[in-house]
Amino acid sequence: MKASELKAAGKDIISLGMGEPDFDTPENIKNAAIEAIKKGDTKYTAVDGTAALKKAIISKLKRENNLDYKPSEICVSTGAKQVIFNALIASINPQDEVIIPAPYWVSYPDMVLLAGGTPVIVDSSEQNNFKISPQDLEKKITPKTKWLVLNSPSNPTGACYSQQELKALADVLVRNPHVYVMADDIYEHLIFDDLKFSNIAEIEPQLKDRTLVVNGVSKAYAMTGWRIGYGAGPEKLIKAMSMIQSQSTSSPSSISQAASVEALNGVQDYIHSSKKVFQARRDMVVKMLNQIDGINCNTPNGAFYVFPSCKGLFGKKTPSGKVIENDNDFAAYVLEDALVAVVPGVAFGAEGFFRISYAASEDFLKNAMNRIAEACAKLN
Ligand SMILES: Cc1ncc(COP(=O)(O)O)c(C=O)c1O
Repeated sequence: MKASELKAAGKDIISLGMGEPDFDTPENIKNAAIEAIKKGDTKYTAVDGTAALKKAIISKLKRENNLDYKPSEICVSTGAKQVIFNALIASINPQDEVIIPAPYWVSYPDMVLLAGGTPVIVDSSEQNNFKISPQDLEKKITPKTKWLVLNSPSNPTGACYSQQELKALADVLVRNPHVYVMADDIYEHLIFDDLKFSNIAEIEPQLKDRTLVVNGVSKAYAMTGWRIGYGAGPEKLIKAMSMIQSQSTSSPSSISQAASVEALNGVQDYIHSSKKVFQARRDMVVKMLNQIDGINCNTPNGAFYVFPSCKGLFGKKTPSGKVIENDNDFAAYVLEDALVAVVPGVAFGAEGFFRISYAASEDFLKNAMNRIAEACAKLN
């Protein structure tokens, strides 16, 4: 039975599958939206975003990423998800290849397929903290490669590329001028251990005119429901993306855009305070998971996910006699026995692992980890 069905049947399910901060949107941002409604900012806006929001995005990209853009190089969309979708639809010709490091965010390969392209998966390893090497990348590049999708910090692993690692990947891309980079920076502000976030175009300016920076307010400001994301990149690509948006969904919500101006221009306290809370939760979850026999969990540097291995439990039997053979079996057992919902790694292109989101309160997480530990102790 699925988690939602068990929940509907009255079971006390703890879901660790969520992909959004559990905090509320900061008050100043909510107030900006209320103000916008009162002022009558309730009509269609320019398809690719209001002038005020584009200005706020441009100063954010300069202030935080040292990247310069003009308004014609920015497109605001209904979430970062729509930015990625628009970009792929606008650029992919039949059979064009898109390199996607695994474990990956589930939507990337499906969007590439929808756009008529071919996803080319590059595997990474737990030993290398789920990051690909320049050699891994180079081996997958062909004359048909259109894009490399780079998501750091990553969903589902929380992996973050260091500046040196990004430079090494950039060197490969400099040698392959036909490849564009889609830098999905949506978890930019969820980076821990005093690491500094960098965008690949900041590290290697030669890549800027073929990089699409994808970002948004969803994860950084607890604004997932407001649906605002943006892309910054070469004018020709941005124009094509805006055209697709114009004939599909038109402008994103006028009210959410006004709120996003405040998110980007207003006080940034929320970013710093939420980061501290997430880091403490990460430490607790990683520690509790590593105390369980058969589970191994790396300490990721970002996002709000951990991606532990459950391979050490394969071959063991559940109390009802079923053998755990893979991560799907493990997730099903944990749901059935511990009433905890986790996402099996196979959904992200990585068998033998599972994803836990720690965007939940400490008590909630402690309870969930204890339940998983008890369920694992019953395996033999
Ligand atoms: C890696 C990644 N990119 C993009 C998105 C989409 O974000 P948005 O809510 O802005 O559409 C998500 C959301 O889960 C994500 O995890």
